[in-house]
Amino acid sequence: MAKTVSAAFGRLSDGRTVTKYTMENRGGMRVSLLDYGAHVQSILLPHSGGPLEVTVGFDDADGFENRSNYQGAIAGPYANRIGGGRFEIDGVEYRLDQNEKGVTTLHGCGEYTHTLWETAVADDGAVTFRYVRPDGLHGYPGAIDARVTYALGDDGRLSIRYDCVSDRKTYINPTNHTYFNLGGFDSGDILSHTLQLNASRFTPVDEYSIPTGGTLPVAGTPLDFTAPHAIGERIDADFGQLRLTGGYDHNFCIDGADGTLREAASAECAATGLRMNVYTTLPGVQFYAGNFLKGGLGREGKPMNRRCGFCLETQYYPDTPNRPEFPSCLFDAGEHCVSETVYEFVRI
Ligand code: BGC
Repeated sequence: MAKTVSAAFGRLSDGRTVTKYTMENRGGMRVSLLDYGAHVQSILLPHSGGPLEVTVGFDDADGFENRSNYQGAIAGPYANRIGGGRFEIDGVEYRLDQNEKGVTTLHGCGEYTHTLWETAVADDGAVTFRYVRPDGLHGYPGAIDARVTYALGDDGRLSIRYDCVSDRKTYINPTNHTYFNLGGFDSGDILSHTLQLNASRFTPVDEYSIPTGGTLPVAGTPLDFTAPHAIGERIDADFGQLRLTGGYDHNFCIDGADGTLREAASAECAATGLRMNVYTTLPGVQFYAGNFLKGGLGREGKPMNRRCGFCLETQYYPDTPNRPEFPSCLFDAGEHCVSETVYEFVRI
């Protein structure tokens, strides 16, 4: 149960106002959200030296609009990549805008991220953002009515619940793309964090980060996080899959995924004594180590350097529309795509 207040955050370049919603729990943890992109703008954890900001991102609307690498964003309607920017449904081919290298479609071309969502705040402080997309935007089929609800518990659990329904059969796969640094947003890289992933298989990719088909075991590779390892221990190993992506940027297949809320990952920072556990109902999680961050200016005007934050993006597997062997995220007209992901913050 959180107390939620709203305030103006800034303006977009076309003059529209961005509103910030801050949920605070009884322990003094504060999570701020924006109606623009349904972003997680900030997560402040109570800490010995004062509140600790554990998300890497922006404190100005211009950052979210113009300097974003999806910091805190909701990505959709199809997060991650679609190979060749095309797929078929019932024998009809859909050609999408290819916003990455002119070849692939990434994060729905930023559609969800760069939209002003409608907002409703519930009596328990939960915040629901809603956006109904027009059918065919960026070539993508379906007028999808998407709702994303953030709720903060007194137990340090930030829950994100997605409920999307389309007027025609289509693929649906939203995610949240927060970059975390449990040492604090300006504490340097995340290489000394330890990570555990409850995933004994991953989806191997090609040079465009598109799955090549099927899954492979992580055992015996630097992608094996079934026991905790420092992120930096093997990130630059001479291993084909890591060379292709410049470090960890892979979808991991969550062991035993069955649609119920399961622990997918946990990350720890020894310097601050903080741990984040990630639970999800979804079958996959993209572990992205921030390899492509290039020093763009973020919060307090500080540069967001390579690997200064990591993402654990819960999702259906990338390129599922072209991979019938992957768990399906094709939904009929009127069928709801519902999922939940929880980021839980605890002191170790
Ligand atoms: C992708 C990265 C990409 C990042 C920002 C992640 O989900 O896996 O390859 O650079 O998003 O767009």
